[in-house]
Amino acid sequence: MVTAHETPRAQVLVASNRGPVSYTLKDDGSLEPKRGGGGLVSGLSAIGSDVDSVWVCAALGEGDREAVRQGVGEQGVRMLDIDPEVFADAYNGIANSVLWFVQHMLYQIPLEPVFDAEFRRQWASYEAYNRSFAEALAAEAADGARVLVQDYHLALVPGMLRELRPDLRIGHFSHTPWAPVDYFRMLPDDIAEQLLRGMLGADRLGFLTRRWASAFLDSVAGVLPATAGEVHGRDEEGRRFFRHGATGGSGGSGGQGRETEIAVHSLGADGDFLRKRSHEADVEERMAALREQIGAGRKTIVRVDRTELSKNIVRGLLAYRHLLDTRPEWRERVVHVAFAYPSRQDLAVYRDYTAEVARVAEEINSLYGTPGWTPVVLHVQDDFARSLAAYRLADVALVNPVRDGMNLVAKEVPVVSDAGCVLVLSREAGAWAELADDAVVVNPYDVTGTASALHAALSLPDGERAERTKRLAAAGTALPPRRWFLDQLEALGG
Ligand code: G6P
Repeated sequence: MVTAHETPRAQVLVASNRGPVSYTLKDDGSLEPKRGGGGLVSGLSAIGSDVDSVWVCAALGEGDREAVRQGVGEQGVRMLDIDPEVFADAYNGIANSVLWFVQHMLYQIPLEPVFDAEFRRQWASYEAYNRSFAEALAAEAADGARVLVQDYHLALVPGMLRELRPDLRIGHFSHTPWAPVDYFRMLPDDIAEQLLRGMLGADRLGFLTRRWASAFLDSVAGVLPATAGEVHGRDEEGRRFFRHGATGGSGGSGGQGRETEIAVHSLGADGDFLRKRSHEADVEERMAALREQIGAGRKTIVRVDRTELSKNIVRGLLAYRHLLDTRPEWRERVVHVAFAYPSRQDLAVYRDYTAEVARVAEEINSLYGTPGWTPVVLHVQDDFARSLAAYRLADVALVNPVRDGMNLVAKEVPVVSDAGCVLVLSREAGAWAELADDAVVVNPYDVTGTASALHAALSLPDGERAERTKRLAAAGTALPPRRWFLDQLEALGG
């Protein structure tokens, strides 16, 4: 799988499942490139060309595999053509159906999870997929290079890579939450242990908030009590060391007395980029179209998400329905613009959720709609320019995930909003830690509570709304992606 490499070896390497670009194979045989979605890619894409780096990512589908075969690709991006079945087991089976579900606490507990023989089979693929990354990184990295490994897809890579290349400085960053220890321990003991040891193969482990970093340390204490070392404070806020006598890798040894630093690096929105991009012609065009759909003189509640189980889109719609039901004064005066972009459609549970979002939206429209007013405008076709147009028009932004590592939408809308926008924000989003003071905070499970929050947000006087928006925009752009990346690179030393 790893091919000999002719170009000079890299000093800085990034590894993630999803790369900056993905290709679709068109009927005429041509390849159409598309920018990747999600917080991880947004963060990493800002690295810029002045950092001489190699980004190792997976070929996600037939288009990407064809691009690898044809040698098509971006400078500094190395796509791994992993066996499609191994990839499907690792990505759909383990990463998205197990690890994502654990960290976001998405299981329907009476029936799930079931860790059976099929799970064990898929786990072997997850190991093989992680090994492909470790081998590719080992082959690409210069002596003493710094490697930044991303997310739950690649939890075993740090340990595996350390065994192959002990000279490297290895960081791992989790873009997800980390589950409370009792939830994490639903994983079979050997798997939980392997995951933690794999991550602890890194010199540094990064998390988006202190809450997730602390939960990780609780898991280490709960799952690896025999090897759990001393966790001690440091001067700088949120940074701790974890001392341990064993390192990661499947059954790895060595590394006596090593330390892994547990660090917090929040990720903010890219203010400069957003302000500029949101005033380009395609965004203006889409604003005109949206204004038409909304109708003159109406308030707008906006949400923009991947159609993702953790984003809580259905309860958001139910809250809106409750608002229209209990406060009829808002009927005809407000429109809920909901963009729910398809995600992980290979998984039945995501397809069902997508259908449920559409069903509830239609139900609201048939219950309350009038000839001149559509209460919910739902768009499912991914369109970044239209998302920015909605941000600009928003009076209220609804960000109500049941659990979210950070949530960049909460940070982006206040930057882009034209006339000021009230943020209704779940206390379970990582962004809550930085934005709570100026947001209207909700418990995401509480539908009637969320309806009251929407009412309060819609009713906020203009002056206060503008003031809050200004403060939210400042807080949300304080740590732009480039800084997030460079801080970690610097902290990794070398
Ligand atoms: C989250 C994860 C990322 C992932 C993104 C999109 O932000 O932390 O690792 O890339 O979701 O999900 P997908 O499965 O489409 O890559």
